[in-house]
Amino acid sequence: MRSVLLFVVMAIAVTAQPTLRRQPGEMALLLNEEEFENYLEAWLIQEEQTRINSNLNDRLESGCTFRFNDDFGQPQPVYILDNTYLRPSGNSGEVRLNNGDQVRVACTGSGHSIQHPNITSRVATAHATCVKNNLVSGSGWLRGHGAFGNLTCSTHATHNAQETNQKCFNNNTVIRVGFIVDNVFHVLYHSCFDKSRLEVLYVWYNQDATNVVHQSNVDRPNWLASTFFPGANINTVYSQNSQKNAIANIVGRSLADKYVTNLQYLARGHFAAKTDFVFAPGQRATFYFINAAPQWQGFNNGNWNWLEQNLRARIGAANYSTVIYTGTFGVTQLRDESGQLQDIYLRQIGNQLQVPVPMYYYKVVYDSGRRLGTAFVSINNPYYTASEVRQLQFCTDQCRNNAAFSWLKWQPDRIDIGYSFCCTIADFRRVVGHIPNFRAIDLLT
Ligand SMILES: *[C@@H]1O[C@H](CO)[C@@H](O)[C@H](O)[C@H]1NC(C)=O
Ligand SMILES: *[C@@H]1O[C@H](CO)[C@@H](O)[C@H](O)[C@H]1NC(C)=O
Ligand SMILES: *[C@@H]1O[C@H](CO)[C@@H](O)[C@H](O)[C@H]1NC(C)=O
Ligand SMILES: *[C@@H]1O[C@H](CO)[C@@H](O)[C@H](O)[C@H]1NC(C)=O
Repeated sequence: MRSVLLFVVMAIAVTAQPTLRRQPGEMALLLNEEEFENYLEAWLIQEEQTRINSNLNDRLESGCTFRFNDDFGQPQPVYILDNTYLRPSGNSGEVRLNNGDQVRVACTGSGHSIQHPNITSRVATAHATCVKNNLVSGSGWLRGHGAFGNLTCSTHATHNAQETNQKCFNNNTVIRVGFIVDNVFHVLYHSCFDKSRLEVLYVWYNQDATNVVHQSNVDRPNWLASTFFPGANINTVYSQNSQKNAIANIVGRSLADKYVTNLQYLARGHFAAKTDFVFAPGQRATFYFINAAPQWQGFNNGNWNWLEQNLRARIGAANYSTVIYTGTFGVTQLRDESGQLQDIYLRQIGNQLQVPVPMYYYKVVYDSGRRLGTAFVSINNPYYTASEVRQLQFCTDQCRNNAAFSWLKWQPDRIDIGYSFCCTIADFRRVVGHIPNFRAIDLLT
């Protein structure tokens, strides 16, 4: 069954794209992590076409237009305009510049350099000036008018995950992730990290209408630990063998074999999703373990994915300008052989329990201009009973039977793909103290 599906997914990737009718969330329990990611990518390429609001005939008489999927080469440089990341023009799936605008082109990382068929000198950073259409000029490094899409880096631009002096909830550590261009750190997202428990509390980043379309065909790189998991081989901790052993130590071997299966195992659940970032370098920078937590695969592919996709589309359609706090809370439990619920951690060193499997995943979405916010919460455990999940629901659900959330297509009563509910920010804060203290006047719907 799986190999047939895999074949279908691969065939879709290489042939003339038949319509993918099934929403990714419907595939939750049919595909593994890798297969699901491939299906999602193919589906998003199709889906985002319908969101793109572009008309190339409207190309300005003067000025430049760079389309995400035709005019951006890979390995892609980092692009900075006006001291911030180059941004798309609304939800158009393209970047538009005025004639004469200068984009900073950076191949960050030691020894990396800009490549172009018309390059005249070896440089790591340079200014590209918009000429017209997809053409740029570059004084002192580029001959004539070069295609913007032919700009690439000798190797992938290096991103950085850096500990800051900033503290978050309970004196935990704030790590920033981004690219350093001309000695300026350009942040993509921040992570609030508990160094002793090796636990990510939450990650925050901005999302607005420009995030509705992302550049496709960006390969998934390997996950990085950087310096934040000293002494722990965190990649191995997530392996299915290792997680099964950890769970067996807590609940016994025979139950561990029942809990950890081919379809329900603990995946590396992204906080900031790969597809939350528009361009290839940003997407690649999401593969840090300080941006992940153990997440049951049915939930990862299921209601969590519905939420990620539907929320992004909603932000685009409503033109919200938001900060999203994506986080985890609590420790999930499994029954042992005597029927007792036990907390599940993937690592134990002496008495120190580390890498908890979270009880809850949440996304708090806040538009500060409108002062609207909603907390979306899901339970990360396919093995709770219906009465258990209802008891774990800690606020009055704002989403069920509320037409204002009809854009949210998750299946909130499905425990196997993540039982889910929504809270007002105030209700959420009464239980989860993590996030900064802003005050929403109403729900973001
Ligand atoms: C290189 O520059 C020439 C002269 O401006 C231009 O005609 C040509 O299209 C450029 N080649 C590329 C690949 O950009
Ligand atoms: C340059 O870009 C054009 C499209 O913009 C593409 O067809 C061509 O293959 C590229 N050439 C190189 C050498 O990358
Ligand atoms: C917070 O952590 C720092 C070390 O990172 C420590 O010096 C400080 O005393 C801690 N503050 C509190 C209130 O625990
Ligand atoms: C969306 O909001 C931005 C400000 O956040 C504004 O500049 C833009 O014009 C809005 N777009 C539409 C289509 O209303």
